[in-house]
Amino acid sequence: MIANRKDLLGLEDLSADEISGILDTARSMREVLDRPIPKVPSLRGLTAANLFFEPSTRTRLSFELAEKRLSADTVNFQTSGSSVSKGETLRDTACNIQAMGIHLVVVRHQASGAPHYLARVLDAGVINAGDGTHEHPTQGLLDIFTMREHKGRIQGLRVAILGDILHSRVARSNIWGLVKLGASVTIAGPTTMMPADVERFGVEVAPNVDAAIEGADVVNILRIQLERQRAGLYPSLREYSRVHGVTRERLRRAKPDVLVMHPGPMNRGVEIAQDVADGEHSVILEQVTNGVAVRMAVLYLLAAQKGAGDPPTDSGAATGGSTGAATETHTVEATKRHDEPTLSPRR
Ligand code: CP
Repeated sequence: MIANRKDLLGLEDLSADEISGILDTARSMREVLDRPIPKVPSLRGLTAANLFFEPSTRTRLSFELAEKRLSADTVNFQTSGSSVSKGETLRDTACNIQAMGIHLVVVRHQASGAPHYLARVLDAGVINAGDGTHEHPTQGLLDIFTMREHKGRIQGLRVAILGDILHSRVARSNIWGLVKLGASVTIAGPTTMMPADVERFGVEVAPNVDAAIEGADVVNILRIQLERQRAGLYPSLREYSRVHGVTRERLRRAKPDVLVMHPGPMNRGVEIAQDVADGEHSVILEQVTNGVAVRMAVLYLLAAQKGAGDPPTDSGAATGGSTGAATETHTVEATKRHDEPTLSPRR
């Protein structure tokens, strides 16, 4: 379980059991979120800081919501309006925030490796919310969680990941997680956007989008980063859409019950057609909902290092879903003392 770790920095260095353990805990959190009052006191007394040095809608808001659903106190930091504009370094910024009594730091940064650096200099637990072109582990986890919720398994699934693989931290985290859990991953996109050492990821490289979609259980479409056109990596948006965009016609090559995924924000009409984004196969908004549950799970498991949560119990309770791959299961229960739900690990 990642409960033995201080930080969550990427899926590359997690084991299959650790990933399955997070997914099982996220299942319990989904049950909490489906309650009339979707809140548990598990992180009461802990404070989390969300440090976003890059823009974000989904990740920032869902981390903040996850912290609040677990009853943590939260503070938010954004570069604009901060002392970063006066030249304060990343280290000084983070150390000053930690000095205010912070237990967990969520960080998004444009530099690959920034969360790893902070994990070394801070006592607080560090969660990577996206670093440069390296990893976006909670996005990978929420994508895999969404696949598992629909398909009941990851082992043996055929997953196509399409688009700008080279610059995509979402693609990297998906690939590491999916391959560890036994999925068969095929990638496709412009040749200028394929990593040179792609074989080391354990994926198949399809010659084009149509070949990658053929027989797929899941099609995960990456956002085209518009600045790449300025860098000359593809000629025009129209050309990208025509050659690499996922349309209804292209999607017919997939399995009839294919899931269409996109991490957002979408460029409608470019990498994904309007009617695919909003069509019957799309689980794009469900990914966002699941993002809160997955981030609750990660915060909860890392907070165990900080002595948070209620003591282990064997009593009561509806059990959270489990594939049996994890070494712990979790119970979501109502305590008589507070008459409010708690979420505590059961060993
Ligand atoms: N998927 C994702 O990271 O979206 P945001 O940039 O809005 O957080």
